[in-house]
Amino acid sequence: MTTPLVTEPLMRRGVTEMAEPILAVESLVKEFDGFRAVDGVSFAVMPGEIRAVIGPNGAGKSTLFSLIIGELRPTSGKVTLDGRDITGLSTHKLMMRGLGCAFQATNVFWRLSVRECLEVAVTSRRRHSEKLFGKFAQDVDDEVASLLDQVGLSGLAQATSRDLSHGDQRALEVALALAMKPKVLLLDEPTAGMSPSETSRAVNLVRELVETNGITVLIVEHDVSVVFSLADVVTVMHQGQTIAEGPPDEIRKNPTVVEVYLGTSEFSKGLS
Ligand SMILES: Nc1ncnc2c1ncn2[C@@H]1O[C@H](COP(=O)(O)OP(=O)(O)OP(=O)(O)O)[C@@H](O)[C@H]1O
Ligand SMILES: [Mg+2]
Repeated sequence: MTTPLVTEPLMRRGVTEMAEPILAVESLVKEFDGFRAVDGVSFAVMPGEIRAVIGPNGAGKSTLFSLIIGELRPTSGKVTLDGRDITGLSTHKLMMRGLGCAFQATNVFWRLSVRECLEVAVTSRRRHSEKLFGKFAQDVDDEVASLLDQVGLSGLAQATSRDLSHGDQRALEVALALAMKPKVLLLDEPTAGMSPSETSRAVNLVRELVETNGITVLIVEHDVSVVFSLADVVTVMHQGQTIAEGPPDEIRKNPTVVEVYLGTSEFSKGLS
């Protein structure tokens, strides 16, 4: 069992040393034809924590992410959510257990308006589509309005999803994930391809989600400046293994981390 890290910001949010991790990976291994893309990774994420996983190209971040969200089965090791083994469960089952993921919305969704996308998601969570009248419809409307507000899309509710800007599309994907009321939200490179203003909006959104909804976030992110301004705890991967774990200030100064990032474009952006 890994020892959870309870950092100062977490304590301020009421997380104590006694709390149980909400998400944990234990000795996780994924081999592809004998090559270990993920090689014995363990960490424990506390409720209300923003955990970032970083590492240079090929470190194994996306593979780790796929193992957690059930897109890939590990060769060995396990994943637990709220203390229960969720290793190898389908993405759909994981969603029902409270693991949310901001997937790229599908083509079907792209033809719908932003509001319609969210109505479908909220209704499907409630699994009562036949009862869509009266109070229930009002509840869905209220929930959709609140999601739109939360991700800053209220003014674009009638827009067709595929016509949204890149940043607004990513915001819609986050809203779709939130519609499932996840306990833990996983984000894979949420700021990829975003302009600086879209990036800062995304960073603020994640912060707000944690502060207002008490949601836990696991984020795999290339942009280390985003990670250092957002994460409570950073896990650094290199060649499939965890080489460092700690609060951003420690990670930034960690000589091993600096060394694996030397010469990469990320280094000039945020490390050092
Ligand atoms: N399906 C696969 N089959 C074989 N090898 C794979 C497969 N998926 C990933 N790998 C290898 O595993 C290693 C880790 O890849 P992964 O995509 O997880 O890294 P990453 O940290 O996400 O990199 P990046 O920063 O470039 O996104 C790489 O060497 C990659 O080539
Ligand atoms: Mg990747």
